[in-house]
Amino acid sequence: MKKIIIDTDPGIDDAIAILLALAAKEELEVQALTTVNGNVDIEKVTQNACKILEVAGRMDIPVYKGNAKPLERPRDHCEEFHGDDGLGNLGMKDSEKQIEEEHAVDFLIRKAREEKGELILVPIGPLTNIAQAVRQDPEFVHNVRELVIMGGAEHGGNMSPHAEFNFWTDPEAAKIVFGAGFEKVTMIGLDATSYVFLSPTLRELLYLINTPVSRFIHKMTRAYADGHWEIEKKLGCELCDVLTIAYLLDESVAETVDAFVDVETSGLCDGASVVYRTFYYPDKKKNCQVAVKADTKKFFEIFFRYLFPEYLEAASREL
Ligand code: RIB
Ligand code: CA
Repeated sequence: MKKIIIDTDPGIDDAIAILLALAAKEELEVQALTTVNGNVDIEKVTQNACKILEVAGRMDIPVYKGNAKPLERPRDHCEEFHGDDGLGNLGMKDSEKQIEEEHAVDFLIRKAREEKGELILVPIGPLTNIAQAVRQDPEFVHNVRELVIMGGAEHGGNMSPHAEFNFWTDPEAAKIVFGAGFEKVTMIGLDATSYVFLSPTLRELLYLINTPVSRFIHKMTRAYADGHWEIEKKLGCELCDVLTIAYLLDESVAETVDAFVDVETSGLCDGASVVYRTFYYPDKKKNCQVAVKADTKKFFEIFFRYLFPEYLEAASREL
């Protein structure tokens, strides 16, 4: 059983990632959600975290509110993909769930210490909270077993030709995290997430499955798919954050390479993750592994196996 904390900026793909993690009850113990400013503002992402837990029937899981802005400079949000409310403008009523008093960063530091090296952090938003924890507690890096991060890219970007949204939103935080010396870091970037698009066919299957969770994902991804079409003329929607959870469930879903990664914090390539594959650059000291591709079929088999097992066969026919 892997003990995980998801640091998140829900966010439609964040929501689906959280639902998948909660469905994998035998494999993952989701200890908490910590929220961070990203797709939408901190109040909305925190409220969205509570709404997602309500849909999942897991109001027992604590939510801790984190940073309201990046370490150094304010950035825009991402309403064009996630809607003004961050969950596809479904008009959901506010959740009754109370969030915890403790700040997310203090919680992360405390929990990492309490779990004595067992805790896996899954940051799927900007890395502001993680970077602040590194700054605040010199032992934090040693208390965390592993980081599985959605962010960055070896090639390309979605906020500029070279910068991916999570790293673009807080480049200084990303630079701190990759330079901190965590024992095991996996960067799940756009190179790999480009293989995990929810197709219109699979989205239709979610509608026909007709459960509260399947319909929630179907409804949310309408706005997400519209954003992908309007802005990128891509059909379907990229389940970026969800790939981190699938990777935790079956590492063979992604192909990784050993690398040294640093993050640009100024100029034309501001927010870009520069990936030196250590095979080609042996003088660079490995600080992570980078996912360079993903197995689409295996990903969606994991997705349906855990979320909608009785429909795995129907989904597999479309893969
Ligand atoms: O670039 C993809 C990332 O940006 C994902 O975490 C998604 O939620 C958006 O925040
Ligand atoms: Ca996210």
